[in-house]
Amino acid sequence: MTDKYQDLAHNPIGKFLVKNLGLPNPPYLERYEGGPLVKGTVLTGSATNGPVAKAVTAALKASKIEATGVPANGKKYKGLVFDATGIDSAAGLVALTEFFTPVLRQLAGSGRVVVIGALPSEAATEGAAIAQRGLEGFTRSLGKEVGGGSTVNLVYVAKGAEKALASTLGFFLSPKSAYVSGQVIRLGSTGITSAPTVKDIEKPLAGKVALVTGASRGLGAADLRTLARDGATVIGLDVPPLEADLKAVTEELGGGYIVGDITSPDAPKLIADYVRENYGSIDVIVHNAGITRDKRLRNMKPENWQLVVDISVGAPQRITDHLLEQNLINDGGRIIGIASIAGIAGNNGQTNYASAKAGVIGWIQSLAERVADRNITANVIAPGFMETEMVKTIPLGIREAGRRMNSMSQGGLPVDVAEAITWLSGPGAAAVSGNVVGVNGQMLIGAS
Ligand SMILES: NC(=O)c1ccc[n+]([C@@H]2O[C@H](COP(=O)([O-])OP(=O)(O)OC[C@H]3O[C@@H](n4cnc5c(N)ncnc54)[C@H](O)[C@@H]3O)[C@@H](O)[C@H]2O)c1
Repeated sequence: MTDKYQDLAHNPIGKFLVKNLGLPNPPYLERYEGGPLVKGTVLTGSATNGPVAKAVTAALKASKIEATGVPANGKKYKGLVFDATGIDSAAGLVALTEFFTPVLRQLAGSGRVVVIGALPSEAATEGAAIAQRGLEGFTRSLGKEVGGGSTVNLVYVAKGAEKALASTLGFFLSPKSAYVSGQVIRLGSTGITSAPTVKDIEKPLAGKVALVTGASRGLGAADLRTLARDGATVIGLDVPPLEADLKAVTEELGGGYIVGDITSPDAPKLIADYVRENYGSIDVIVHNAGITRDKRLRNMKPENWQLVVDISVGAPQRITDHLLEQNLINDGGRIIGIASIAGIAGNNGQTNYASAKAGVIGWIQSLAERVADRNITANVIAPGFMETEMVKTIPLGIREAGRRMNSMSQGGLPVDVAEAITWLSGPGAAAVSGNVVGVNGQMLIGAS
């Protein structure tokens, strides 16, 4: 989908108007096109040079990312990584400005900033809790400052999980996270603290089977493509009217497909039987199917409330429970729910949708604890304004506001959600569970 305003803002007259009228200025974002994860050098720093700093160096090496700990005058950096885990007092937060202020102008376009913290809930002192929680405010503010398509994210590392950093750091430093900014990730928070070393970083999902619902178009089709790019065998599911599109996309990827409505009472059995007969079991399930039926609450029809809630969270819960009961999700599997920024910030006319999507977060975070003993992770992706069929129904004025009111001043592309899902699906993300990852360009108001 082309963004005409973005193109306009980059031609000479447009540039002049954008600058002088203070209009949104959407940069062209770099996206991953294969090859090295990071094209350029990453500068690292640490408040204490403790064990996490060493783990960062090892993680960058494992992902073949060029890095240095010594800043050079005038050199441009594609990424800045700061280990703030050792900061244990309010006064100690000054280490952030000591590291970042002198080098921020050296951050290249579509650059990446990653702050590494220690889980505030594990802080040994009040001073450490202040400092570590303070990193969230720092990250979210810097995300709104950097501009130029750059992103800023925070990774909290639970005690003992530092060796599981590589894939998360790789994702947040690469163009794969083009539309992910202002996010806070907790590594090791459900007790899974290790991750295998990923041997083939181009095809980390080789040998894995991934099922995506609502897969004939939009975000779901992009999920299938990106999961397949990373080596997964894919299965798509969608409703009968979209069978032809579903067949086309899955056949193109050498995958399988299931035609059905996830809300029908026999859907869990239909899916389980298909998986058992054709693939034995699955490793990844992405509950992407979703609809909107927007109306203010005073005009809401109960059937539209029920339908939206059931498609978003009721049916995904029933299907997941059945697959788990039937042992059709492998140990070390991945369960991914799709929420929405509406489920976090709320939205006028979407009480049904926002209840459902907030419910997805509640369900997945609870499930993450339940399945941790089988090393299965459960995470939520909360997309913001993504350029798909779904948003075409939004009235123009509201649509344009939704598209521009984020740090990137533009809507995200389906591939942005797909990249985040593919990172969470990989073996390297074994210690990432119970997280909510906003893929929303960092919303300017409400929530990120
Ligand atoms: N596009 C956005 O801006 C945006 C923002 C936040 C969240 N989301 C969420 O992302 C997901 C995908 O959205 P999209 O924009 O690609 O939407 P889309 O309408 O393009 O695709 C949704 C797919 O789900 C399928 N589906 C709907 N009901 C189903 C059912 N009962 N059984 C099986 N399949 C069903 C549809 O047929 C369709 O193929 C949804 O869960 C949506 O709520 C989208």
